Amino acid sequence: MKNIYLNIYKPNNLNLRKAKQSINNNNIIVMPTETVYGLAGNAYSDKAVKKIFYFKKRPYFNPLIVHFNNLKDLKKDVIVNDMFIKLYKAFCPGPITFILNKNPMSKISNLVSANKNTIAVRIPKHYVASNLLKLLKVPLAAPSANISTKLSPTSALDVVDEFGSKIKFILDGGRCKVGIESTIIDLTGIPTILRHGSISQEKISKVLRKKIIINKKSKKIKSPGQLKLHYSPGIPVFMNKKRPKNNEAFIAFGKKIKSAKNIFNLSYDGNLNEVANNLYTTMRKIKQKGFNSISVCKIPNHGIGIAINERLKKAAYKWKK
Ligand code: TXA
Ligand code: MG
Repeated sequence: MKNIYLNIYKPNNLNLRKAKQSINNNNIIVMPTETVYGLAGNAYSDKAVKKIFYFKKRPYFNPLIVHFNNLKDLKKDVIVNDMFIKLYKAFCPGPITFILNKNPMSKISNLVSANKNTIAVRIPKHYVASNLLKLLKVPLAAPSANISTKLSPTSALDVVDEFGSKIKFILDGGRCKVGIESTIIDLTGIPTILRHGSISQEKISKVLRKKIIINKKSKKIKSPGQLKLHYSPGIPVFMNKKRPKNNEAFIAFGKKIKSAKNIFNLSYDGNLNEVANNLYTTMRKIKQKGFNSISVCKIPNHGIGIAINERLKKAAYKWKK
């Protein structure tokens, strides 16, 4: 099918060079990563970073993740430690973000880190993100390419669903493999998971051989984007349901689920990675189809299920009594 969206571009060499030019002119573009699509701009430029906050309607107190192509470049902006090196060797490039202390020599815009002395850094695995970063001389600040509090996009069309034609340049890297955002781990003190992801606490502690803390709701919010309504399809979401109410959409998985117009099966095989992969795009589809609410079956709370439940809890926040 011919692509009718004029702002979606194939990730060929010519278009990667166009993306590079755009970024060097302090404009923002959308790039695919293995987790979700990101709204990307030059992390060294206040002008570009301001545009990211503006398009995302993101409050300035909520800092952004900075994406690098390699360790050497990353070290220019953050101070690495032993824990980081171990995790880097085990999981990078990949769906994991590290909070590290800012290198005093760093040129990263203070807006990126909400004036904190720490920076969230990540080396993405997706070949398009990686090839684009290779072409550039600067790292890319890139939050998920959605309006603040909404669902992250996992395809180029999802990005169009979020922003219409407001974003002029979207690199199409197909459906994201993971489908939910990266694991975030704070390595500035005792290793602390700030956001669950496909790289689980278990996998991380195996590598570090150390106790890892999970950042529960604390008085001191380490990651401002962690709380309250988030990952929302814009309609009420209810968790741990056995069946839908009348006219409601129902998200479930496994072979036992009967098919019907309002039933959305995320994985016939009951594979939780597949559930994660289909979650956002299915919730988006349900909203587009005009359903007024979504009930979701119980998701087992292990492996990537922990990350899925974390997202659903926040998507359900506003409607929870
Ligand atoms: O998978 C991902 O991580 C995607 C792709 C595009 O890389 N990005 C993403 O970014 O999810 P974003 O901005 O939607 O989520 C970043 C989270 C926010 O909750 C933010 O508060 C937290 O990271 N964060 C960023 N810098 C931080 C810092 N210095 N300290 C603590 N939390 C930080
Ligand atoms: Mg986000």
